[in-house]
Amino acid sequence: MMKKTILTGIRPTGNLHFGHYFGACSNWLKLQNEYDFYLEIADVQALTDNFNNPSKVRKNVKELTLDLLSIGIDPNKVHIFIQSQISEIAELTVYYSNLVTMARLYRNPTVKTEIAQKKALFGNDGESVTYGFVGYPVSQAADITAFRGELVPVGEDQLPLIEQCREIVRKFNSIYGLTLKEPEPLLSPTPRIKGLDGNEKMGKSLGNAIYLVDNDETLHKKIMSAVTDPQKIKKDDKANPEICMVYYYHKLIQNENLKTVCQECKAGKRGCVACKKELIQKMQEFLAPIREKRTYYETHPEEVDHILQEGTKIAKEKAKETMHDVKIAMQIDYESK
Ligand code: TRP
Ligand code: SF4
Repeated sequence: MMKKTILTGIRPTGNLHFGHYFGACSNWLKLQNEYDFYLEIADVQALTDNFNNPSKVRKNVKELTLDLLSIGIDPNKVHIFIQSQISEIAELTVYYSNLVTMARLYRNPTVKTEIAQKKALFGNDGESVTYGFVGYPVSQAADITAFRGELVPVGEDQLPLIEQCREIVRKFNSIYGLTLKEPEPLLSPTPRIKGLDGNEKMGKSLGNAIYLVDNDETLHKKIMSAVTDPQKIKKDDKANPEICMVYYYHKLIQNENLKTVCQECKAGKRGCVACKKELIQKMQEFLAPIREKRTYYETHPEEVDHILQEGTKIAKEKAKETMHDVKIAMQIDYESK
């Protein structure tokens, strides 16, 4: 049986943190064994927000690639590619842009939230919202359909973008004839990972993230500052681990002593400092193979370049096939006559 095609993307705007890893990437590690997997480093999409800071995006394409390889994304199973290198995506975006109304884009909940966030940051009436930004769901529909993605692993916040993609596909097919496939979202089993401060979401902009590249010193500082049960003042106070971030991370990285941590915490037989130190050690163990792989790839940059070139080559071939069909359907297939 043919493997189903999976496509997902990630914006190169920073390093991977635990939120990415446990919220999305660890699921990709499983999916890579079962599907034909296209993993897009969405640099064009990152530029919609960072068009005036290209060096940030460029630097993070490299950082993100190293992060992805270091966590065990296997380039023999996954086509890792850079969005800007597939010109067909940009081409499709232009054609799809006729199939979406401005009103529909402004109504997209993800776009709406992001515009509200921008306004809160920069004030004003939306004057600073660019055409490219409002239109990024169209570009994301091109990302997915260029590779005939059937399943799209995403977090809940991205569901409106998948829905918008499905609408574009239906509209395209109804006007130009059955050409494109409607993708289905594949929700991550653990979409949200809490931050060090107890916030429901770990995020770069929230300043509450632990990064996979954090060194021991940073890791120590961060875990020591993690929010614990505020009722626990003294070492032998009884506490509730369920409201403690330290306990939450013990659970996340599957500390095999979890039961003991829980029981001792509840019984007032465990001090928070010792508990944090144990977590730091467990995190170091968790990070050890990731750090080792990263060092390998950092010292073999030609191998990383080769992986991206190969991924991009395969992605390009697939996108060309789609483009061919799209042009025939739209009657702009001049070169294939
Ligand atoms: N918008 C996604 C995010 O911010 C990243 C992304 C880009 C994506 N292209 C994609 C996700 C295509 C799924 C499919 O997380
Ligand atoms: Fe949290 Fe551990 Fe302190 Fe309990 S003992 S409150 S689990 S840090």
